[in-house]
Amino acid sequence: MAKSYSIAVIGGDGTGPEVVREGIKVLKKTAKVHGFSLSFKDYDFGGERFLKTGKIIDDSEIATLKKHDAIFLGAIGHPDVKPGILEKGLLLRLRFALDQYINLRPVKLYPGVETPIKNKGPEDIDYVVVRENSGGAYTGCGGNVMLGTPNEVATQEMIYTRFQVERALRYSFELVRKRHSKKSPWRGLKPEDIKAGKIGQLTLCGKTNVLTFVFGLWERAFHEIAKDYPDVKTDYCHVDATTMWMVKNPEWFDVIVTENLFGDIITDLGAMTQGGMGIAAGGNINPKGLSMFEPIGGSAPKYTGQNVINPMAAICAGAMMLDTLGESAAAASIEKAVAAFTPKMKSQAAGKMGFTTTQVGDEVAGLIKK
Ligand code: IPM
Ligand code: MN
Repeated sequence: MAKSYSIAVIGGDGTGPEVVREGIKVLKKTAKVHGFSLSFKDYDFGGERFLKTGKIIDDSEIATLKKHDAIFLGAIGHPDVKPGILEKGLLLRLRFALDQYINLRPVKLYPGVETPIKNKGPEDIDYVVVRENSGGAYTGCGGNVMLGTPNEVATQEMIYTRFQVERALRYSFELVRKRHSKKSPWRGLKPEDIKAGKIGQLTLCGKTNVLTFVFGLWERAFHEIAKDYPDVKTDYCHVDATTMWMVKNPEWFDVIVTENLFGDIITDLGAMTQGGMGIAAGGNINPKGLSMFEPIGGSAPKYTGQNVINPMAAICAGAMMLDTLGESAAAASIEKAVAAFTPKMKSQAAGKMGFTTTQVGDEVAGLIKK
């Protein structure tokens, strides 16, 4: 019998529902071509519902989501809701409640897409950032003391357990193996690396020169775990230098693993180098549980309802979702269709694509092949 997957859809705010609609269009076509079935169920979590009912999401609703195989998310963020409420109450709540401890963010320049980095092309910008998604400053430990006085103290601690660090690192080492093999090793390896049996590279991005406690832990764990992966070349960059190399020599990266806040920051930079928020996708992954896939750009309220927003990030997030569900051939066919279509687009920016939102979805869906 053909496999079937049930997907929870949270269109969310602003242009979220519009991009998700095109993502679903492409997913449906892909399922048809590859012979599996997908069912979609809409959930109205987001800014509108919050403004009407005061509700964001509760435990029983999270339990309902758990009945699905994956979550497909549009965007969270409403101009009439104070910043922080929906982000913490919905997006971060789901990431934590579902223990989606990996935030996987590919930085991939598709053919014909303009990058602000001079003289770099698709062969140079093709790496993945693994952002640890459960800890660090996002843990929420800290507070304000003597609030509102000239002596006010504010703390927000970067917290990591060995357990959190280890699972993120192991996932990242495995990801290098998933991306490459002995037969087709990573293009950035030197002949001596290949001779030494390496297939790819994992870069730890940290700040061992200042945040010695937290990155001392990351670094020790990194080198210990690396012993289990002799085929993976290891590399280390401070986070500030990482941003420099991401612009100057992006071809040096294969997989980058980093802590939560650093990952948040460097992936916005990465997104810009791959053509902008219109095309940058991400997955909040619990490898043994329920994962959630999203375009990483926001809700873009000013473009809502105009059929001008770029749905490519949502389409690529859909591909990541299929890959995580185990339909990797189907995921690859979406990536191929995207790569065939991007050269025809004038730009990846909203309103400047040379196509409407709906047309981009139609065109990519039309290019899906087995
Ligand atoms: C992201 C966003 C979120 C984050 C915000 C909206 C909470 O910036 O997904 O990168 O900081 O993780
Ligand atoms: Mn971010």
